[in-house]
Amino acid sequence: MFQVRLVLCQALLWIMSFTSTPHATSVESQWKWLNYNASAISPIGKVITIHTPPDTDIWRPSMEKNNFTAPYLYSSISTTDFQSVKVTAQADWKTLFDQGGLVITFPERQDNDYLQWIKAGVEFTDGAPYLGVVGTDRLSDWSLSPMLQGADTGTASIEIVRDGADAWVYAIEGTTRRALRQVTWAFGEGRSEQMHVGIYAAKPTRESGEGHEFDTLAVTFKSFSLKTRS
Ligand SMILES: *[C@@H]1O[C@H](CO)[C@@H](O)[C@H](O)[C@H]1NC(C)=O
Ligand SMILES: *[C@@H]1O[C@H](CO)[C@@H](O)[C@H](O)[C@H]1NC(C)=O
Repeated sequence: MFQVRLVLCQALLWIMSFTSTPHATSVESQWKWLNYNASAISPIGKVITIHTPPDTDIWRPSMEKNNFTAPYLYSSISTTDFQSVKVTAQADWKTLFDQGGLVITFPERQDNDYLQWIKAGVEFTDGAPYLGVVGTDRLSDWSLSPMLQGADTGTASIEIVRDGADAWVYAIEGTTRRALRQVTWAFGEGRSEQMHVGIYAAKPTRESGEGHEFDTLAVTFKSFSLKTRS
């Protein structure tokens, strides 16, 4: 009897929490870490630093080399409700493939037995930070674009926006939005009912030099915003 009452009381509190602040509460309460030992907090309105160890990546060049080992802070939301996600990422990028930014994944598409995902952010290549986007339908394909702003401080603002069946990836540069990628498979037929949305950092390459092989990469995120259909 006591338990029944407790459950009813919890259910009522839960319903009340949704009716008072529908978005904040539903999005705030569902944050989780993958591949990271820390308590999960919502990045909304906060500055968050991910310290990623080396030998981490999100990358699938072949089905046998499927890699999703990077720290990822995400929230699970209804795919129907997703409109856009945006973040500003900054780091002292200095080693080949040092990276960080946004990741969205589609964990439960029925027509496939593999995870589909898009990552977009900064990636250090050819001795400089670039804007990098990887779309992984079956296998990963990667594109790079120069940083027109923020290269000196290693800072970039990236947005992923839903447009019908497509996902568009943009760099936000001041008041302008520059298109980096159109992904045509993201929200089309057979799409996942739930999607994961969040931030990640990865360090595929170890630092060189005696005693530095396990140095971490610190990527700081701010101005995270997640827009959902109300
Ligand atoms: C995770 O962090 C806790 C608290 O700092 C620590 O006690 C625990 O050993 C850590 N676990 C792993 C797998 O690193
Ligand atoms: C993931 O990729 C990193 C960087 O290439 C590598 O060091 C690591 O061994 C890979 N992990 C798995 C599980 O494939």
